[in-house]
Amino acid sequence: MDKNEIFDILDNWNEWASQKDIGLIRNSYLDRLKGLIHGSNQVITITGPRRAGKSYIMRQMGRLLSENGVKKENVLFVNFEDPRFLSLDTKLLIQIYDVYREFMSPTETPYIFLDEVQEVEEWEKWVSMMHELKKAKIIVSGSNAHLLSRELGTLLTGRHLDLNIFPLSFTEYLMFNKMEIKTSLDVNRKRTEIKGLLRKYMEYGSFPEVTLSKKKTEILLNYFNDLLTKDLLKRFRIRKTKDMKALIKFYLSNAGNLITFSSTEKYLNISADTIDKFSGYLEDVYLIFQLKRFSYKVKEQEKSPRKIYAIDAGLCNSLGFRFSEDIGHLAENIVYLALKRKQILNPKIELFYWKDVQHREVDFVVKDGLDIKNLIQVCWSMRDEKTKNRELRSLQKAMKELKVENALIITEDTEGEEKLNGFTVKTVPLWKWLLTEEGVIYL
Ligand SMILES: Nc1ncnc2c1ncn2[C@@H]1O[C@H](COP(=O)(O)OP(=O)(O)OP(=O)(O)O)[C@@H](O)[C@H]1O
Ligand SMILES: [Mg+2]
Repeated sequence: MDKNEIFDILDNWNEWASQKDIGLIRNSYLDRLKGLIHGSNQVITITGPRRAGKSYIMRQMGRLLSENGVKKENVLFVNFEDPRFLSLDTKLLIQIYDVYREFMSPTETPYIFLDEVQEVEEWEKWVSMMHELKKAKIIVSGSNAHLLSRELGTLLTGRHLDLNIFPLSFTEYLMFNKMEIKTSLDVNRKRTEIKGLLRKYMEYGSFPEVTLSKKKTEILLNYFNDLLTKDLLKRFRIRKTKDMKALIKFYLSNAGNLITFSSTEKYLNISADTIDKFSGYLEDVYLIFQLKRFSYKVKEQEKSPRKIYAIDAGLCNSLGFRFSEDIGHLAENIVYLALKRKQILNPKIELFYWKDVQHREVDFVVKDGLDIKNLIQVCWSMRDEKTKNRELRSLQKAMKELKVENALIITEDTEGEEKLNGFTVKTVPLWKWLLTEEGVIYL
């Protein structure tokens, strides 16, 4: 390709001459990314589900660097999805880097952002060479299925740190809906609107584009089609399309339920091997997560049934669930995602569910390092005394067994605290718990 042509493309995506649209700022990811970039000498990979906002976060990081004093010519952003790039190989990477140096003359080690890098053949070779020679700070992002793929035999093993981007947290969702909350007073004043937005959050999920658009279901169905055809069927060369679709629908309709491969096998009439393999793919593309049972014995942990959660409540509703009937399970899914987001910021956190031989269950055991930090039960309606007592009994049993003194029940709108034989169980509405977890208010 001609030098000037390449420069024109680069100039379109960089802020050398003019500012570009970088969307609404997602500070929690930028803080984390900043920490990774400045606190390590590794290549940073940005991964996560399709359409979660990876490219936007990269562009926001580029802007933040220049706002913090990095000269514009020391930042390079390349989007390999630009159709004007012709052959996508390491030769092009070398050419791009040469053009950038010639036209922009960087004065310090540059920050190079490579978006949709999986499009470039053997990109890891060039990236690890640049990294070895300390010629640039490199941040790459791309379709997750490829970046993490096993067959890459990855040259980057042990040389990269990963940042996961998820659809919007509830606080980000409020911000995207133009609701600013800074103090507890704001929360009290706006509680009705906040609760209204929580219902929407549970119904349509929180992909950034879906949140900002009116055509929510249409966009979600498009995301799903792309995910199915491009990320799953094509990438993993799957021929059993019908089985894959059936399994996805089954999982999305069963968020929060205990699932074994053998029961799924019977129900869907698909072999357990296929289910096992497909479930791995669905995890690779971040559509589902499998939650393991808490046990001090690894073997027991592995052979117990898993609980399945989905990346987005909107996808569940447009493909599987019926919102009004399954709102309790959706609430549980929302809690799970909020805990997963915490894990992104603090990788020492581990999540499990708990169950004993008498089939008492606790939805979430949150471990931080060696300590069990919290036990959480999601119980949408506490009005029925029988349900309430069952949930309390399960929690008490788990608290005793795991030697934890405090636990939490998350509900639609009940609030309170019960003390039982030295144990304290707090009850808190979901909206309030989300804002607390995300550091907006303190309980
Ligand atoms: N911070 C943001 N502010 C406003 N809109 C956003 C933001 N982040 C994402 N979006 C919207 O969501 C869409 C998808 O975002 P983006 O392209 O960053 O996702 P991605 O994770 O890179 O997706 P892909 O996997 O397809 O590359 C954008 O086109 C935009 O409409
Ligand atoms: Mg992208």
